[in-house]
Amino acid sequence: KTEILKIQPDNIDSEKIKYAAEVLRGGGIVAFPTETVYGLGADALNENAVKKIFEAKGRPSDNPLIVHITGKESVDGLAAVVSPQAQVLMDRFWPGPLTLVVEKSGKIPSAITAGLSTVGLRAPSHPIALALIREAGIPIAAPSANLSGKPSPTASKHVIDDLYGRVDVIIDGGDADIGVESTVLDVTTDVPVILRPGGVSFEQLRDVLGNVSIDPSLMKKPSEDFVPRAPGMKYTHYSPKADVIVVEGEPQKVAEKINSLIMEYQSKNIPVGVLATEQTKELYKGIPYITLGDRLEPETIAANLFKAFRDFDDIGIKVILAEAINNEGIGLAVMNRMKKAAGYNIIKAT
Ligand code: TXA
Ligand code: MG
Repeated sequence: KTEILKIQPDNIDSEKIKYAAEVLRGGGIVAFPTETVYGLGADALNENAVKKIFEAKGRPSDNPLIVHITGKESVDGLAAVVSPQAQVLMDRFWPGPLTLVVEKSGKIPSAITAGLSTVGLRAPSHPIALALIREAGIPIAAPSANLSGKPSPTASKHVIDDLYGRVDVIIDGGDADIGVESTVLDVTTDVPVILRPGGVSFEQLRDVLGNVSIDPSLMKKPSEDFVPRAPGMKYTHYSPKADVIVVEGEPQKVAEKINSLIMEYQSKNIPVGVLATEQTKELYKGIPYITLGDRLEPETIAANLFKAFRDFDDIGIKVILAEAINNEGIGLAVMNRMKKAAGYNIIKAT
């Protein structure tokens, strides 16, 4: 039922792109690589096709989808208002990992926006994603191509594990480069608000805009009655099956704390794994650990995080002890995903 098309990002087979684009135009659903994570696409203007996405993922219908386009030339028909700030951001960051939330036009079906008056627009930079959207000639609604509740897919294997048999086509185009999702930025207000940190950093946005704020709910546990402005951010359990505990502090202290926690879990025969960094990996002996990367290169850590979550689940780890990193640059997105996966279970190592 599901066709897998292998396409090289640096040598794109246009026949395969044409085929996948035809499936999209016919109302089918196609998983494809982007520079952030894999997406599951459908014709954004076809309500029926959009509904198939929610079904295939098991996604709650109150969580809106991002509409993918080739660039600013496609914005006019989809957005009701495009502020000068939004124009500047498109020029600077598109194509790339930035989703702009704008007032929507009447063309956008309400299934996409979950009834909101706004829509998230993004032009991805991945050559396969761009070629597919261009060939299809329609805006493509696409959430991450994981089953709802699982970490976003950064490799075609993750998509196949989650969605084989549930979608029409899976394009295998290699590993996602960035590894965390796009930054979702609300540009409907005078001071734009980051609703989800991602591939474009707070610092990059501040350099361009001068003033940008961060939705205060992002780094802390939402209260019961709290309604986040990016509806997807309320689903904390898009995480590994294992329980995640984040440990913050000086790297050396963090490793000490994690080692003492390991002893506790091991004494209870609970399989435990560590998300370590280059700086600390030597400090974990005789337990499964995954080195996410160098603390000074948060891009590498971002690229490896979701795969590490899945790899630990695959080997039956029940508790993941994760070292916190700095919130700078893409580190903010890394920490947002880690803390959400942990259900905001955070320990300070002192
Ligand atoms: O990098 C990405 O953004 C990937 C790739 C495939 O492009 N897509 C992605 O989509 O992560 P999804 O559906 O997994 O996450 C979209 C996020 C959700 O948190 C959703 O609530 C928020 O964006 N969002 C979408 N439209 C919105 C809107 N109109 N207002 C506020 N938040 C919105
Ligand atoms: Mg998602």
